[in-house]
Amino acid sequence: MQHHTVIAIDGPAASGKSSVSKALASRLGYLYVNTGAMYRAVTWLALRLGVDVGDAAAVEHLMQQAAFECVKRDGSSSFLVNGEDPADALVSPEVNAAVSQIATLQEVRRRLVSLQRDCALNQPLVMEGRDIGTVVFPETPYKFYVDASAEVRAARRAGQGLEDSVNQRDAMDKTRKESPLLIASDAQRIDTSHMSLNEVVDEIFSRLQAAGIRPPSA
Ligand code: CDP
Ligand code: CDP
Repeated sequence: MQHHTVIAIDGPAASGKSSVSKALASRLGYLYVNTGAMYRAVTWLALRLGVDVGDAAAVEHLMQQAAFECVKRDGSSSFLVNGEDPADALVSPEVNAAVSQIATLQEVRRRLVSLQRDCALNQPLVMEGRDIGTVVFPETPYKFYVDASAEVRAARRAGQGLEDSVNQRDAMDKTRKESPLLIASDAQRIDTSHMSLNEVVDEIFSRLQAAGIRPPSA
């Protein structure tokens, strides 16, 4: 598949993926794509329609009925479900508690991975998630795994005022059969436990520059 440059950012919950990816994309002039928001949007829809997230056949049926669309807004990609942007509802405690179960389902992943690949057909991007460097764009040479200790990540999420059992979600994400969270063998792992957001962005940016990536104006 021919696609534009993809910077893949994977890592566990609350490691800083979204903040880092957004800042990096803005510095590079690339589109920012949050794939977690896609899994969250499917979860939001299932909960809203009263579909049991543990019932694979029911969720599969839901996936066949629903219309999904990625739209560009201010340098970021938003994910619409049946024309609607779930916005803040994506990070509700209910979605946090159910999303990792939805993410185990093969049909959900197949459909979302296809949409994710399509994102790179028209522009370069920074894409964050759990399987970007391993499954969605395994061929990209620009892969980072941002990490932080479990304590630091729990504190970061609590600092956002969000209710989220990050350890429980990580355990499910790392042990599922379909596309588990893994450090790709060719990914650069960065332990951000003692790094500020800006330090992480600077570090990845300088590694990308060393690898030949330039912002559009440079
Ligand atoms: O922001 P945070 O790291 O807490 O989560 P997220 O990136 O919004 O992802 C929410 C959930 O979606 C994860 O815990 C995974 O279960 C799932 N996910 C996935 O399976 N694959 C991805 N590429 C992205 C997210
Ligand atoms: O996307 P992910 O769940 O991996 O993390 P995030 O939502 O980007 O970051 C969670 C919180 O940690 C945010 O409030 C970030 O500002 C903060 N953060 C931090 O304090 N230090 C870092 N090096 C990275 C993120």
